[in-house]
Amino acid sequence: MRQRFSARTGWDTRESRFAAAIRQARESGRRLLDLTVSNPTVCRFSYDAEAILTPLADARALAYDPDPRGMRSAREAVAEYYAGHGAAVDPDALVLTTSTSEGYGYLFRLLCDAGDDVLVAQPSYPLFDFLADLEDVRLKPYPLFYDYGWWIDFAELERRIGPRTRAIVVVHPNNPTGHGTKHLERERMEDLCARHGLALIVDEVFLDYPIGKAETERLVSFAVGSHPVLTFCLSGMSKIAGLPQMKVGWIAGFGPEQDRAAATARLEVIADTFLSMNAPAQVALPHWLAGRETIQKQILERVAVNLTRIEASGVEHLKVEAGWSAVLRLPRVGLGAEELLASSDVVVHPGSFYGMSDEGRIVVSLITPVEEFAEGISKIARNQGKQ
Ligand SMILES: Cc1ncc(COP(=O)(O)O)c(C=O)c1O
Repeated sequence: MRQRFSARTGWDTRESRFAAAIRQARESGRRLLDLTVSNPTVCRFSYDAEAILTPLADARALAYDPDPRGMRSAREAVAEYYAGHGAAVDPDALVLTTSTSEGYGYLFRLLCDAGDDVLVAQPSYPLFDFLADLEDVRLKPYPLFYDYGWWIDFAELERRIGPRTRAIVVVHPNNPTGHGTKHLERERMEDLCARHGLALIVDEVFLDYPIGKAETERLVSFAVGSHPVLTFCLSGMSKIAGLPQMKVGWIAGFGPEQDRAAATARLEVIADTFLSMNAPAQVALPHWLAGRETIQKQILERVAVNLTRIEASGVEHLKVEAGWSAVLRLPRVGLGAEELLASSDVVVHPGSFYGMSDEGRIVVSLITPVEEFAEGISKIARNQGKQ
């Protein structure tokens, strides 16, 4: 008899046509310009190796004395990070995780039974599908639309709330649209959640990357202010310090005291079941957070230079307020990521990768090293007859 597997892992794991085309192009020795690189550790930023690695060798990391929520000293450093954003965060309402992704997993387990659903914006980063599958949670998309900027379609969002909906996920600012949730939008979200008994899950991994002065003033963490509904802010080292390999993230809980206390107690049991945080990373976290500006400054500069490059090329990009991505609008019918690879050796993400239904949308990473980015954008522009 052949082994049976769970239905939840019954994914189609075959290589996609696009992935196969990229692999074949590389194997045949073609030099590709990859404008999708979003791993900061390979984007030629200058990391201070000593400042990052020395704190890992602290003798405190030799003792195994696990706290399910994470070391108090590490949680206090995270609370300080939020203080820098104007928010008072109780270190006892923080749970450290090995990544934001693990944080989502914990929250889905906390809030949902098998078959319950969670609302997520579309377009957004395609990370949630697998996370939800693994927790037997169903994702329901709610649309964002573009009209001189990105907007949440609130009427449609409310229509999609059903009897089994448990939470709304807000990626603030969103990836790849770069849309930051405005104060009035936050109020409407909170009102919806209060009326339907839902929690808010707010992914703020790109919060520290506003583009331009106006956005720097406008991009406010959901940790700030009062919290009429149960709210969880997620973030971590991947983006804040450009250190995805260190595997540190967290969940910060807010909301009516009774709900928040119950949530924290349950999250503590979930975390205690795995105790997945390692001691050296927790000892080092305060140092990484303290040194984050070194890398953030480089990333912000790179994003600005690359955006200028797009603007100079004549290729149109949609309005972007924050983050590491830009959505390009390609007017020529039939031109997409596959054609760009075949004709110009440029690798970009098709908009459909992020759930965009419009034709002619592609997504590029703004942290791509500037020389490759400039060359790739010029090729796209030529392909569009813009240069
Ligand atoms: C919006 C968003 N959230 C979360 C993540 C994953 O972060 P982590 O490495 O902490 O799991 C990503 C990765 O790109 C992301 O784009």
